[in-house]
Amino acid sequence: MKNVEKWNEKNSFKRSKGAKFPPSYPNEMLVKLCSSKSYSNLTKNLFNKKKINVCEIGCLAGNNLRFFLDRKWNTYGIEINEKLTRLTKKNLNRFGKNIKNLKIGNNTKIPLKDNFFDLFVSINTIHYSSGKEINKTLKEYSRLIKKNGIALIETPSEKHDVIIKSKKIKDNLWVWKWGGFRNNQLMGFFDNKTKLKKKLKKYFSEVEILERSEIYNKINLNWYFAVCKK
Ligand SMILES: C[S@@+](CC[C@H](N)C(=O)[O-])C[C@H]1O[C@@H](n2cnc3c(N)ncnc32)[C@H](O)[C@@H]1O
Repeated sequence: MKNVEKWNEKNSFKRSKGAKFPPSYPNEMLVKLCSSKSYSNLTKNLFNKKKINVCEIGCLAGNNLRFFLDRKWNTYGIEINEKLTRLTKKNLNRFGKNIKNLKIGNNTKIPLKDNFFDLFVSINTIHYSSGKEINKTLKEYSRLIKKNGIALIETPSEKHDVIIKSKKIKDNLWVWKWGGFRNNQLMGFFDNKTKLKKKLKKYFSEVEILERSEIYNKINLNWYFAVCKK
């Protein structure tokens, strides 16, 4: 792991582009998957439960946690340092939300108990593990999830500008070349859908890979959104 401490409140959103607050609204695909069975064949168990234990790793400004708290789910968030957990709390407080269960951890070490979560969420966070850390990370994610529980994992596809611009050293070991505070950071990007699915299948019994895309200013942002059942 390299440079992770560079994440802070200041670089969590771009004031120079007019943003006044850190990201505050949840990931659209996450909302869809948690709101209707029509998006995946694997999520139906989530809809039979009254109370869901949910955890997001890399919860940053709490934009996804806000959605879980709205639903009154038993919500946990993990960030890599105290400055970032303060950012999560502060941004959630802006919406009158309080989160009790906010902890410091990272992809490979999450201080929570085994087989506890119905839903585990990693949105644009798994690729901050690189090389062999990817295996450790998926083992850690899977450890926390109950049998038949779900992991939702979003990561850039090979069509995403960040991957097109970055430099591959070997599988799951890339150097970020997309500029900004992460420049030259080691990343664990995946080459394509087949390799992502193959890796996830080692840790989960069933895996579906969905896709999400945005294009603006000729920049192509495209992500795989994996639905994984333990
Ligand atoms: C692109 S942000 C995504 C934030 C949030 N999940 C969302 O969807 O808006 C990546 C997050 O990963 C966190 N992060 C960086 N390195 C990490 C690591 N090794 N383990 C876990 N989280 C990490 C950062 O602090 C940041 O919150």
